[in-house]
Amino acid sequence: MNRTQYFVSFTVLLSLLSCNKPMQLDSYDVIPYPNQINYAEDELSISKGVHIRSISADSVLLYDFFREMISKTGHERSLFNSSPESTPLLLSYVEDMAEEHYKLIVDKEEIRIEASSNAGLAYGFQTLMQMLPYSDSFAGLKLRCCEITDAPRFSYRGMHLDVSRHFFTMDELKAFADKMLTYKLNKLHLHLTDDQGWRLQIEKYPLLTDKGAWRLHDKNDSLCLKRAGEDATFAIPEDRYKMQDGQKMYGGFYTKDEMREFILYCKKRNIEVIPEIDIPGHFKAAIENYPHLSCTGKAGWGNHFSYPACLGKPSVYEFIEDVLTEAAELFPSEYIHIGGDEVNKEEWMKCPKCQASIRKNGLKDEHELQSFFNRRIEQFLAAKGKKLLGWDEIVEGGLSPTMTVMWWRNWAPNTLRHAAENGNDVIVTPDFEYYFDFPYSATPTQKTYDFEPIPDDFTPKMKQSILGVQANIWTERIPNTQRLYYQALPRMQALAETAWTAKENKNYNSFKQRLVSHCAKFQKDNVFYHLPTLTGFDEKTVFTDKAAFAIHIPSADINVYYTLDGSAPTPEDVLYTHAVEITQSCKIRFRAYKGHVYSKIYESTYELQVCAKPVICKTKAGLRRQYYKGRFHKNHAVKIENKADAETVVANFGISDFAGEENYALVFSGYYNAPTTGVYKFFTVSDDGDQLFINDQLLVDNDGSHGPRERTGAIALGAGLHSIRLIYRQIGGGAAQTVMVQTPDNEKRELNASELFH
Ligand code: ACM
Ligand code: ZN
Repeated sequence: MNRTQYFVSFTVLLSLLSCNKPMQLDSYDVIPYPNQINYAEDELSISKGVHIRSISADSVLLYDFFREMISKTGHERSLFNSSPESTPLLLSYVEDMAEEHYKLIVDKEEIRIEASSNAGLAYGFQTLMQMLPYSDSFAGLKLRCCEITDAPRFSYRGMHLDVSRHFFTMDELKAFADKMLTYKLNKLHLHLTDDQGWRLQIEKYPLLTDKGAWRLHDKNDSLCLKRAGEDATFAIPEDRYKMQDGQKMYGGFYTKDEMREFILYCKKRNIEVIPEIDIPGHFKAAIENYPHLSCTGKAGWGNHFSYPACLGKPSVYEFIEDVLTEAAELFPSEYIHIGGDEVNKEEWMKCPKCQASIRKNGLKDEHELQSFFNRRIEQFLAAKGKKLLGWDEIVEGGLSPTMTVMWWRNWAPNTLRHAAENGNDVIVTPDFEYYFDFPYSATPTQKTYDFEPIPDDFTPKMKQSILGVQANIWTERIPNTQRLYYQALPRMQALAETAWTAKENKNYNSFKQRLVSHCAKFQKDNVFYHLPTLTGFDEKTVFTDKAAFAIHIPSADINVYYTLDGSAPTPEDVLYTHAVEITQSCKIRFRAYKGHVYSKIYESTYELQVCAKPVICKTKAGLRRQYYKGRFHKNHAVKIENKADAETVVANFGISDFAGEENYALVFSGYYNAPTTGVYKFFTVSDDGDQLFINDQLLVDNDGSHGPRERTGAIALGAGLHSIRLIYRQIGGGAAQTVMVQTPDNEKRELNASELFH
C-alpha cells in the first residue's frame, strides 16, 4: 500500500451523513472533542481484534512507538493481534495536510489514519483508542463508521509542572507525558529551578545539584506530612531522601543523560520540553551555594520574595549565561523560559552595584534594570538559536518586540493587552482558571473549561498574538503523583478541550458526559483523580430542636463514609445511605470513595442553640451610621469607641452616599426586628471587607481586603428586637456592601428598612 492508494481509497469513500453537534451526538467519548465528525450508517466489526497492517517502510521507529502506545492502552492482549482475520488499522502519510492535523476513517472494511506527520498519526491513534470502550473483551464489538477530520485550535497546548517544590522522578514525568499525549497537549514547561530546589545538572556548577537539589524539610513539607496523617495523597515518597553529612535530606535532580532520554521520549509523543531557569528571582537554591550571586552575599527572604540575583555584578551575568549555555545545548526546544516573576526589587534599591548599573545604563528604576537584564539575556539566547519566554512581569520596565510572554496575573490584564498590542507572542495561563494547584472549591473544573483565552475585544491582529494556553501546577503542597493527578484530572482534560477544540464545538455538559469513560479508565489504571464534588450540605447549621444531615452524591458508584468523633472517615466507618437526624451539637466529617480514589474530607458542623431573648426598648426607624475617615486595613483598626468624623441616621445599610470615595469606614448600629422565633441566616457581600454582629456576637466575618465576596452566619433568635452592628471598610478599587437575611419562613432577601431600628 502506498500513499497514492490511500488517497484513491479516500476519494471513493462512503457517502456520509453529516453531523457535527457534540451536544446531540457523543457516541464517541473523545476528549478533546474532534472538530469534525461525519457519521455513516454502517458499522465495522472489530470483534476479531485489530492489527496494524501497513506502515510506510521508512517508519520502523513509528511502528515501535505504536507498539509502545498500544502497550499503554491496556488493550494489547485483547484487542491487538497479528491474525489476518482481524481488522486492519492502516496508517498513512498524506502530504497535503498540516502538521498535527489528522483524518480518522472507519469504514466497513478497515480503519485508516492519515496525517502528514508522526504527530498527526499519533493523535489519530489517541482518538481511536478513546472511541473504543475501555474493556478487556471486544467480542461482538462494532464501531460506527465515521470520518473524523481534526486539527488543533492552538499551536501551543501546554502543561507546566513545578519539580522544584517537590521532585518527581523520570518515570513519573514519563507517565505525565503519556497523559499529555492522550489529550493532545504538546508543550511541557518544566519549572526546574526555584528557591526550594535546583533540579538540573549543570556541569560547570556542580554544587547546584550536589547541594541545591537537597533540603531539610521546609514549612510546606512539614504541612504535607501533617496532612498525610489523614490523607495519603500528601505523603512524601521514601525514595526521595538521602543521607548527607549525617542528615536526612529530601530532594533529587535530573542528570543531563536522564533529561536527554526524557526529551526524546517526549519528542516521540509530539511534546516539546521547555526548561525554565527562573531568574533573577526565585533563585535562592543557587545563591545558597554560590553566595556571590546575591547583592549582599546572603541567601534568604525579603518581605515577600527571596533575595534575587544581583544585577550589578558582571560575575552574576557570567554565571547565568554559563547555566543558560548548558540548558540551551541540552534542550532542543524553541524557547528557554527565564521566569522573571516575583522579584524582590527592594534588594536592588539598597545595593550600590545595582544602583551603579541603573545610572551607568541610563535606566529609570529597578523595573528597567530587570528589563535591561532580560534584553541582554534575550540577545544571549538568540545567539544560541533560542527564543526568550518569561512570566508577564517581563512586560514591566519594557518589553523587546521578540520576547514571548506568559500571562498569568489576572489582576494585571494590561500586561496581556500591552503584549498583544505590541505584537509579542503570548501564552495564556491565568492564575484564577489555569492554576491546578488551586483547590477545586476556588477553581472548579467548569471554571477552567469555560474560560475563553482570547478576549472578545481584541483586534484580529491582537488575537493572532495568542499562541495558546497552558495550565500550571505549582507543587508546594503536591508531594506525590496521587496528589498531582488529584489536582490535575479532570481540569487537564478541560484545558485540553479549550486548547484543541474550536470554541463553537465546546460544550460543558457534553464534556462531563464524555469524561465518565475517561474516569473509568483512571479507575482501572489505578490513576488518582478528583471525584465530582459533594453538594447539598451546609458547612454550618444552627438548630433549636433537630436538624438533618443530608448530602447529594453525584453518582451511584460513589460511597460516602462519615464519622462523628472527629476522626478521618475511611471505608470502615459508617456508610451514608440517607439523611441522618441530628439532635445534638456535633461535627460530621465525611469523604467520598470510589475504588482506590477518594475525595478530600468534608466537614459539616451542627450547633444546637437556645433562641436569644429579644430586648425590649423604645426605638425609632432607621439605623445609626458613623463615618470614620482613614485607610483601615482590618476592621479592628477602626476605633469605634472614638468619636466618629460624622454621624447620621439612615433607613438601611448601603454605601450609595459614598460613591467613588476611598479610605473610610462605616459603622451601622441599631436593632433588627425578628418577625418570628427560629433560626435566621444573615449574609453580607462586601468589597473590601465587613463584619456583622448580632447581639454583640460576631456572626458574619467578611473582613479582609477582597473583591465582592459573600459570607454567611446563622443564629437562633426569639421574635422581637436584637441588636445589630455592621462595620464596613473601603480602602481602594471596587466597593460593595449588601446585607441579606433568610428568616425561618422565607427565602434569602435583602434586609428592608421596615425591620431596622435604632
Ligand atoms: C507565578 O505563578 N509566579 C508565575
Ligand atoms: Zn545588587
